[in-house]
Amino acid sequence: MTKEPIRLTVNGAPREGVAEPRKTLADFLREDLQLTGTHLGCEHGVCGACTILLDGPAVRSCLRFGVQADGAQIMTIEGLERDGELHPLQEAMRDSHSFQCGFCTPGFLMTAYAYLQDGGEFSEEEIREELSGNLCRCTGYQSIIDGVQLAAARLGKAQGR
Ligand code: FES
Ligand code: FES
Repeated sequence: MTKEPIRLTVNGAPREGVAEPRKTLADFLREDLQLTGTHLGCEHGVCGACTILLDGPAVRSCLRFGVQADGAQIMTIEGLERDGELHPLQEAMRDSHSFQCGFCTPGFLMTAYAYLQDGGEFSEEEIREELSGNLCRCTGYQSIIDGVQLAAARLGKAQGR
């Protein structure tokens, strides 16, 4: 099958590659751009492990084709840290022991990052709702909720705390 050129911005840097039209964005990021922090679990839109930011909102990269991202601004888990420093969200989730095996963590972090950007009440109930599209088979979720709530508080976003 003919490969198509893809030019996009990833984590603030221009990137390009070529891919067959049927290649998913997740596979393009992982295999062609070597950004393997984006994980693949179910590969059909259920688990959220492949979540990235595409022109702002959090999306599931297993449900997009790479060619659809031509010209897009993408942020992956690799874009959270700056100059070797973890993002406050990463620090808060580390401090809250928000992961065990860590497989789900990139997806949760990107979903939570988009949620923090959008703003909200950051109550436990709201955080549970916002993260309800991401699955974790290890933690029981409470420590993940705690991590996001701690990040919101540290970033001065939480209301009523
Ligand atoms: S791998 Fe994309 S939602 Fe599960
Ligand atoms: S920490 Fe293992 S799947 Fe979430």
